[in-house]
Amino acid sequence: MSKLQAPRGFEDILPADSWKWHAIESIARELGQLYHYNEIRTPILESSELFHRGVGETTDIVHKETFTFKDRGDESMTMRPEGTAGVVRAMIEHNLLAQEGSRAKVYYIAPNFRYEKPQKGRLRQHHQFGAEAFGISDPAQDVECILLQMDFYRRCGIKELSLRVNSLGDSESKAKYSQALIAHFANLRNQLSEDSQRRMDQNPLRILDSKDPRDIAASRTAPDCLESLSDKSLKHLHTVLRLLDETKIDYVRDSRLVRGFDYYTDTIWEVTASGLGSQNALGGGGRYDNLVENLGGRPTPGVGFGSGLERLLIALEAQGAQLPKPTKPLIYLVYQNEQARTEAWTLLTELRNANLPADMDLSNRSQKAQFKLADRENAQYALILGETELASQSASLKNLKTGEQSTIPRSDLLRVLRELRG
Ligand code: HAM
Repeated sequence: MSKLQAPRGFEDILPADSWKWHAIESIARELGQLYHYNEIRTPILESSELFHRGVGETTDIVHKETFTFKDRGDESMTMRPEGTAGVVRAMIEHNLLAQEGSRAKVYYIAPNFRYEKPQKGRLRQHHQFGAEAFGISDPAQDVECILLQMDFYRRCGIKELSLRVNSLGDSESKAKYSQALIAHFANLRNQLSEDSQRRMDQNPLRILDSKDPRDIAASRTAPDCLESLSDKSLKHLHTVLRLLDETKIDYVRDSRLVRGFDYYTDTIWEVTASGLGSQNALGGGGRYDNLVENLGGRPTPGVGFGSGLERLLIALEAQGAQLPKPTKPLIYLVYQNEQARTEAWTLLTELRNANLPADMDLSNRSQKAQFKLADRENAQYALILGETELASQSASLKNLKTGEQSTIPRSDLLRVLRELRG
């Protein structure tokens, strides 16, 4: 029989690593609260139409990378490749943006699925911490999202990172810039990759995002998008940059930055970090003022970001950053005989009721084997119950890291254990 394996590009998060996920997720949740964003959870599966209308038919993500299939009722379904479209669908469906001037700030921590060629930092299932703010068109809202994202990296301990910001402007500016790009690439058509020759007719902006050396060469002399920005969009961008300056956030304005979704208008940004190799984008975001309306809602501006959690963990490791470890030490109960086992069983419940993480062997192993188990489970303390302890109504507490041991009266036990640190 062949060995069963997780599908290519899908990763298990094993017990030895899950504390790191808890650590970054709890930083994300804490930030959600600090910046006044509430959590939203949307389904993994959505109707394919949502992404065609939301993310864009001609984007690589929808065109080549979605997991799409017909369900048993012959409906075309797609596993979400990103979080924004589903959030917008939910906000409209539940009338959360129905009033004029409605505003809402939400965040999510959730998996996404893209049929990409797996490599380091590029998976077919990845997780994002993302946030979306609806109802505010002021550039300060873009900057609040950027600040939240950068605060997340700072609190997780990422040091070497860089923020790039750009604007492709509103719909008119984008259309104007597309025309300018078509004019530029028209003379270079034969020098472009096959993919980009196709993009030229459908979505010339995407050529600037190509990693193919032929496209990179042809893009070098492409016009700057600033030249196509409407006055309103230019003013919006300048205010974003001024607010970033005032908040003392380091950034570069990168006129070559484009992002992989059609829904963006005005500000877009991306954060890269060292230690990630070629897949160096930690997260990115932007404004999408037409998306709510395009998906059937009342015209409502929106802006947000998504940040890859697998890449964050890779970057943290490469940069030698330490995430906060769970603070409560594990206490392992060790019993010497049958009677002590009964007593240990009672004590186990008492410890857990007192919020002290505790465990014991349930298979009657020898005392020596129980100590081995305690070691293997990385317990900080062993709490030993033997004949002597039972007779004197006490327990012996051994620090497994230092070897230090003391006897504690049973009546004092919970108080002493509560004061222990790892
Ligand atoms: P995105 O740039 O496609 O944006 O993804 C955000 C982040 O998710 C990336 O920077 C990267 O860290 C991570 N990521 C994306 N694809 C993969 C993959 N195949 N493997 C591992 N990590 C990956 C969005 O998804 C937008 N929805 C962000 C947004 C929210 N814009 C506005 N609001």
